[in-house]
Amino acid sequence: MNETASLRARAEIDLAALRANVRVLRARASGAQLMAVVKSDAYGHGAVPCARAALEAGATWLGTATPQESLALRAAGLGGRVMCWLWTPGGPWREAIEADVDVSVSGMWALREVTAAATEAGRPARIQLKADTGLGRNGCQPADWPELVAAARTAERAGTVRITGLWSHFACADEPGHPSIAAQLTVFRDMVAYAEKAGVEPEVRHIANSPATLTIPESHFDLVRTGIAMYGISPSPELGTPADFGLRPVMTLVASVALVKQVPAGHGISYGHHYTTSGETTLGLVPVGYADGIPRHASGRGPVLVGGVRRTVAGRVAMDQFVVDLDGDVVAEGSDAVLFGPGDRGEPSAQDWARAADTIAYEIVTRIGGRVPRVYRDGTADGKSAGS
Ligand SMILES: Cc1ncc(COP(=O)(O)O)c(C=O)c1O
Repeated sequence: MNETASLRARAEIDLAALRANVRVLRARASGAQLMAVVKSDAYGHGAVPCARAALEAGATWLGTATPQESLALRAAGLGGRVMCWLWTPGGPWREAIEADVDVSVSGMWALREVTAAATEAGRPARIQLKADTGLGRNGCQPADWPELVAAARTAERAGTVRITGLWSHFACADEPGHPSIAAQLTVFRDMVAYAEKAGVEPEVRHIANSPATLTIPESHFDLVRTGIAMYGISPSPELGTPADFGLRPVMTLVASVALVKQVPAGHGISYGHHYTTSGETTLGLVPVGYADGIPRHASGRGPVLVGGVRRTVAGRVAMDQFVVDLDGDVVAEGSDAVLFGPGDRGEPSAQDWARAADTIAYEIVTRIGGRVPRVYRDGTADGKSAGS
């Protein structure tokens, strides 16, 4: 018997697909290195196994938001260059320096803290200066750039830091032709040129995320930072499907049907009775809910493959479960309810759930909760497990 059959639910993670996606993305940006963005537990796919698979497929950098995420990768023994970019005052600068993590610096406060930590550690910090080229989020404003660059160069000359990168992030790379794309590229080039003129010799200049990697070749510079596309999901349905880019979804979310029963016509279903059976029918109980990351917003709309047929969530998604109307079909308890996956069995995609919940597919996979075990596979049809 398949060892996963007794699980209430599982997120199957196909590491062979992830590796293949990394290769596709590397080919798209062949002149650049690839950073595998594995923040937020690799968008819910499991940071350590995904990071390892990405490195095996030729990624040379791993990217995280928080320093704790980067430190966890190092603690798990992962090599390669690791970078993190979301710092707050008092963060673990010294630990990051000692773990050979490249750290992003967006402002003077961060430069002060990292130089102090490097002095304490007795070794230079590898820092990457982040430019706000128009996203209006993290990063240094063009007006403040001269001060930051000058201070970083002073620290570099003193041996406390090494400026390894200059970088930025797009606001609208998933909207081809959006005027902000060209505008941000111009500002980025200007800010890089300014820093280089001031003596910065970056190893890597980078701005491209997945949509830019796929559709804006002039944005690739020395490194592309890919997250969503590496997990086989298109950054936006307007850009194309995963298959259009040669990508394959990595996560398949499956629950084990917990109960099948017959009910009469006019039966209210789930909290609030927002669905009522129109005739005598069968119901299937799918034992995952919003505590597992299934959006309550998709109540009455979310698609799921049960008994080989696509059904729709009947009524509300509850904390731990939802119901589907099986239209009189009888399905064995314990059979698979496939919420989303690559589509091989006719199951919906994460993008279908995004549409149903009025959100983006990034959120659908990232929010799958810790109560759902990740089961790692390596592309084998019988689902040979590579750990979980
Ligand atoms: C700074 C930064 N770079 C790269 C990425 C990866 O983006 P994507 O998943 O669109 O490839 C993210 C994710 O949001 C990010 O915050």
